[in-house]
Amino acid sequence: MKVTYLGHSAVLLEDGDKHIIIDPFLSGNPLFKGTLDDIPKLDAILLTHGHNDHFGDTIELADRDGALIVCMVEIADFIEQHFEVDTHGLNIGGGYQFDFGKVTLVPAIHSSSINDKNGNIHYLGLAAGIVFESGTKAIYHAGDTALFSDMQLLNRYDLDLAFLPIGDNYTMGIDDAVQAAEWIEAQKVVPVHYNTFPIIQQDPHIWARHMVEIGQHPHILDAGEMVLI
Ligand code: NI
Ligand code: MN
Repeated sequence: MKVTYLGHSAVLLEDGDKHIIIDPFLSGNPLFKGTLDDIPKLDAILLTHGHNDHFGDTIELADRDGALIVCMVEIADFIEQHFEVDTHGLNIGGGYQFDFGKVTLVPAIHSSSINDKNGNIHYLGLAAGIVFESGTKAIYHAGDTALFSDMQLLNRYDLDLAFLPIGDNYTMGIDDAVQAAEWIEAQKVVPVHYNTFPIIQQDPHIWARHMVEIGQHPHILDAGEMVLI
């Protein structure tokens, strides 16, 4: 599977002829240098939560490609009420086997809301992390989250790859992300949710150094870079 980091928390998965994107915040994303035309035709859009730096271009892409949006039930209901696109709602702890892979929502400690076009805030259930499994491969995308001790359960998935936020302020910072990685035991860990905006400025090499010190496998990707698993 080819996995491309698109900056902030956006990740593109290319698995055979299937294309799946997670948290497609692209148009307003200072780290993403391309345009939506650079994104291949999508089968699915997976969302960790409703905040716009994750929801991003979800509707435009779903509309363009007829892609299925997989997310928390409250976000799915909100989307269905406002837009003519297809959704599949899940809740925390629940997984579903799609033709493009299995998606399971796992806990995250964060909030989740969407601002409508009038600027009103709609709180839309819990924020989630995502476990994506296809064939023998398993990927964890933490979304936005604090460190919490139940992350220790994620090592049951034998993760090939994990995406962990390191930006601090809205999510875990460097030290907590190192602890999370130690618990999760993924083969490779990619830091995300940093250096997009001044308030989440971090040096990922400091994180990587701490990771190596505890025997973990940091994998820093610039936006546009990919890793094969
Ligand atoms: Ni958020
Ligand atoms: Mn965020």
